[in-house]
Amino acid sequence: MCGIVAYVGRKQAAPILLRGLSALEYRGYDSAGIAVMGERLSLVKRVGRVSSLAGAEQLTGTCGVGHTRWATHGAPTEENAHPHVFGKVAVVHNGIIENADVLKAECTARGEKFSSETDSEVIAHLLNFYFKGDLLAALKETCKRLVGSYAIAAMGEEREIVLARRASPLLVGRGEDGAYAASDLSALSACQTVYALGEGHFARMTEDAIRIFDDGGKIALKPLKKEEVEGLPAKGGYAHFMKKELMEIPASIANSLENYRSFAQNQAFCRVLCQTEYLTFLGCGTAYHSGLCAKYAVERLARVRAACHLSSEYRYLNPIVKRGELVVAISQSGETADTLAAAELAKAKGAILLAVTNVGYSTLSRIADFCLVTGAGREVAVAATKSFSAQLAVLFSFAADLARLRGMGERDLGNLPVLAERTLAASEGTKAWTGAFVHAKNVFFLGRGADVATAMEGSLKLKEIAYLPSEGYAAGELKHGPLALVEQGTPVVAVMTEKALAEKTKNAVHETAARGANVFVVSAFPPEDGLPTVEIPEADEAFSPILAAIPLQMLAYYVSLARGYDPDLPRNLAKSVTVE
Ligand code: AGP
Repeated sequence: MCGIVAYVGRKQAAPILLRGLSALEYRGYDSAGIAVMGERLSLVKRVGRVSSLAGAEQLTGTCGVGHTRWATHGAPTEENAHPHVFGKVAVVHNGIIENADVLKAECTARGEKFSSETDSEVIAHLLNFYFKGDLLAALKETCKRLVGSYAIAAMGEEREIVLARRASPLLVGRGEDGAYAASDLSALSACQTVYALGEGHFARMTEDAIRIFDDGGKIALKPLKKEEVEGLPAKGGYAHFMKKELMEIPASIANSLENYRSFAQNQAFCRVLCQTEYLTFLGCGTAYHSGLCAKYAVERLARVRAACHLSSEYRYLNPIVKRGELVVAISQSGETADTLAAAELAKAKGAILLAVTNVGYSTLSRIADFCLVTGAGREVAVAATKSFSAQLAVLFSFAADLARLRGMGERDLGNLPVLAERTLAASEGTKAWTGAFVHAKNVFFLGRGADVATAMEGSLKLKEIAYLPSEGYAAGELKHGPLALVEQGTPVVAVMTEKALAEKTKNAVHETAARGANVFVVSAFPPEDGLPTVEIPEADEAFSPILAAIPLQMLAYYVSLARGYDPDLPRNLAKSVTVE
């Protein structure tokens, strides 16, 4: 995923573009660049983060485009950085052009030279080719040739920006001093009115006007609601967004429980819930782990069969979907390409689609039959923390509702925010564990039942922000092979929240300790054997993952710092992967 920004107005564009790119940096930070139209076109692009564009704020001109890149085609080099300039046009692009090679051959055949390895550059060549004086008409012609996903902002020699959107998010907004466009709200804090472009929409922005078009001509979009138009949150005194967002977990849970209570008033959804006999959860990464936790809870509480699939697999499985089956697509951003594709496939096969997302105006929210918005608030750090807690809060509420509707009793989740508060305090103890992890060759997170999903989430965090090889594994499976990897000092983290299974997990712990492992425990029961333990408050076992995950996320945060990394912006990654 990449971040694009654009501005045309009465102010100098360069500082505005750079501020916008800084707000979007979590979407990708392999390289960055801006192009500004003044007396002439000026272009600065560098490898690395937006800060590498030092000096670019001096570029003069009141119309410009900017880009921060997460590399898909072509290594992170200056040549591959956007904006791409060809002839009279400058272009920034977020997405993937699937037929770039064919189009490049066509351009090359007419003698055009390419300066990058990217798929995006071909957009600049086509735009320049079709430009006969009307840049928007040229962009429409260009987009007819493109196969794939795109959010495009482009400019020529006039003081105007033209934009196009297909499958990659793109917002436009009006501020006091001009018109803005960006990949998401965090770069539009200067705007009073913001519009989310829809599928296949185009726009033309000038200093005083924003015109939006679909295939049929000019259209009027409803602006986003005021509460959705908020600036990028500050770090609030924390060293990193990730730590701030960890500390916001209790509020995230409370808000999400409230959001679910409001959502559950939807009678149409209640009818769907009453007739649901089989459930499928879909997600990627942490969202997939949320789906696994939901599967366990639904089967345990409501005795309804449930499956959970990786979106990136499901979309190619030709899945069997029963007409009217409820499919729950989980995505914090609501823009993850794999989950969007999987969700659309399920719908096309007759499923009823429930979206669980943290972004109420996202693409996923628009394609779903029902949309359940979590209450985590904007999550900036690439590593999901409070958004995971928020997903579990609504999904466990959903599972409890399903059970209640089946006459299987009431479950109260109201105490979870307070229990999360207590768990956060206990989790600070993981800071003392970091020494055993900093130089580890391999780390195991073990659990049984729903604790396997929690273990997988803990492992993902450690890989993602501390760059440590690790695995979340079913405790009972270790002896069937992976135990061979355990050697003197291998850190093993055992997650135990289910009483009936704790003793069994302890067997696996002893098997690893007997081979020299350095064992740590996250447990809902009093510590034993003197092992370093974070004891989490006892809660309804079906909901314990929402607590047990917190010390594992905190551990990853402290290990990332101990290894000298920035937990907010892990290498090679982006906050939402809007490409395949
Ligand atoms: C989680 O910490 C990662 N950032 C990543 O696995 C993420 O959960 C995944 O890309 C899914 O993102 P989404 O929830 O926005 O769809």
